[in-house]
Amino acid sequence: LGVQDVRPPLTTQKFAEPMLSKIAWAYYASAGDDEITKVANADAYQKVQFRPRILRKVAEADATTEILGKPSRIPVFISPAAMAKLGHPDGEVNLTKGAGNTGIIQCISSNASCSLEEMTAARSPSQPLFFQLYVNRKRDVATDLIKKVERLGMDAIFLTGDAPVGGKRERDLRLKGEFEGPAGGVSEKSDATQGVSQAMFAGVDPDLNWEDIPWIKTLTDKPIIVKGVQCVEDALLAYKHGAAGILISNHGGRQLDTTRPSLDVLLEIRKYAPQLFRPQFRGPTGLSKDLLEHPEQLTAADPRGEKEERKFEIYVDGGVSRGTDVVKALCLGANAVGVGRGFLFAQSVAGVQGVEHAVGILEQEILLALRLLGANKLEDLRPSMVEVKEKRPNPFLRT
Ligand code: FNR
Repeated sequence: LGVQDVRPPLTTQKFAEPMLSKIAWAYYASAGDDEITKVANADAYQKVQFRPRILRKVAEADATTEILGKPSRIPVFISPAAMAKLGHPDGEVNLTKGAGNTGIIQCISSNASCSLEEMTAARSPSQPLFFQLYVNRKRDVATDLIKKVERLGMDAIFLTGDAPVGGKRERDLRLKGEFEGPAGGVSEKSDATQGVSQAMFAGVDPDLNWEDIPWIKTLTDKPIIVKGVQCVEDALLAYKHGAAGILISNHGGRQLDTTRPSLDVLLEIRKYAPQLFRPQFRGPTGLSKDLLEHPEQLTAADPRGEKEERKFEIYVDGGVSRGTDVVKALCLGANAVGVGRGFLFAQSVAGVQGVEHAVGILEQEILLALRLLGANKLEDLRPSMVEVKEKRPNPFLRT
């Protein structure tokens, strides 16, 4: 299989499946229960249609941006996904090198199968790295991990809030193989009689809550992003507790099944908390009906009363498979998007080259979409460049 054949990410999946072990495939591809949210995440992008502008001088186009002040070649980062070694012997180091070579940012999972030292050693000079944190119920273990992340010079902490316990991933559960816990410092060794997923959550503290954010802030000055936000109330709580931003995510559909697709949550947050977005995204959302029963309750956490507006970044992940998906999310106010499985599959198929190739294709697609939409750069993107259709396509059409 030549690397030229790799297409991100839906078709990387097609190439990866026959190459992966049964355990790896079940762990990577699986999602909660009937995998309805996993499918819905991708489908949600189909209900957004472009409204292009023409005759706008688009010979020059630029997809570069900054994420938390760090340069990124495209508005896409690698969402933290555990156990890359299940797909390729070099595992997460492929992601580190691929990200470094192309100029995008990797968010490292707490349950990475390579050690943090291996990944930071593979980092190119001044390459930014983010770290995803699962908080161990033994707080001294969690403290040591946060201090280590700080010591190794990572640039941000993504605190995952949607996984107090693991979802019911049935494909994974069916393969109750022998499996050893990862090296990230969170999970304890497990015999994996419950499948890979459940082994991942052995040490995670289900009592983690908003009041723990101030505690984490005593251990690190790095910006904290709350990962797994699925409604506007929690977006506002993240702001209120001093987060630098949120990653709207349902964990790629792997936790509570039949939750709403991430893109719908982005629309909800823009509708009810436009003040969290940059000024050009505070206009109409395209949503036709109210989703909230008591929107007045939101004012309790409304930051509008603050003297100075704090910078707050909003990311989204789940089901992003094309440059057009990325551009749609940005038109709707996201600062950047994350891709999880796409990069796991790309590194499984072709290691570092697979990651580079995936980034290259996404970049070409994003630049093409920008030009055909009448935009030269990401700051030109506006809600008026898309229309959000209420009617969903049939999910069974996309398999
Ligand atoms: C994940 N995800 C995840 N999230 C997290 O916070 N910590 C983790 O360790 C993992 N591990 C993990 C493993 C695998 C195999 C997958 C597929 C996902 C969720 C991940 O960060 C992200 O939210 C989703 O993958 C995004 O959806 P897509 O891009 O896979 O559709």
